[in-house]
Amino acid sequence: MPDGVLSEAIETVPSGGDTPAFVGVLSTGQVAVMNYVGANGRIIPTTDTPLDFDDTAGIISFPIPDGGASNPHMALEYGSEVLVPDLGGDTVWRLKENESPGNWKIIGSIAQPAGSGPRHIVVEGDLLFTLHQTTSTLTVQKIPSLDTETAPLLANVSIVPPDPPVNASFAAAELLIPKTSERFPVQYIYSRL
Ligand SMILES: *[C@@H]1O[C@H](CO)[C@@H](O)[C@H](O)[C@H]1NC(C)=O
Ligand SMILES: *[C@@H]1O[C@H](CO)[C@@H](O)[C@H](O)[C@H]1NC(C)=O
Repeated sequence: MPDGVLSEAIETVPSGGDTPAFVGVLSTGQVAVMNYVGANGRIIPTTDTPLDFDDTAGIISFPIPDGGASNPHMALEYGSEVLVPDLGGDTVWRLKENESPGNWKIIGSIAQPAGSGPRHIVVEGDLLFTLHQTTSTLTVQKIPSLDTETAPLLANVSIVPPDPPVNASFAAAELLIPKTSERFPVQYIYSRL
């Protein structure tokens, strides 16, 4: 708005679950929402204008491990796939659109270390960088072919600072890997607790 104030909501759509913790836009204009507690999410197409949601989009349900929880924490476009780190499930789900817009299905997964709590991811080329909340670690793996659900860790580092205060507890939260530019020719990985 010209006066610098946000307008009322122009359009509202249900996230389809409990405690949505992430929203992001795909290159197609579809909007991905992941429900942290709901173990599910939606990838919602927009219609003629980006201001109109197509509410026929399905709900993507993630498998709940025995005695555990599924906590999808973000969605990242990777080629024709969308990758979803699942903090409770210790995995990264691979989703693909099935015939019609907004109809996304799980087509594979990439296992993460047990108990690590994968929270946020970045893909650079065919490398998957994963920030793990529970262990406060950063790992990198080569994204495997779809029929392979594991990939060796090429690197695994703790992001906890040296000499933390007694009884301090940590939870890794954010991961950024900005592209290089003429002014910033060296690529850095920024992670935050
Ligand atoms: C990753 O590194 C952390 C911190 O050094 C270590 O505790 C953990 O065991 C490592 N995980 C794997 C799967 O190697
Ligand atoms: C650390 O935690 C232990 C166990 O709760 C407690 O006994 C101790 O006083 C704590 N130390 C500090 C410096 O807070």
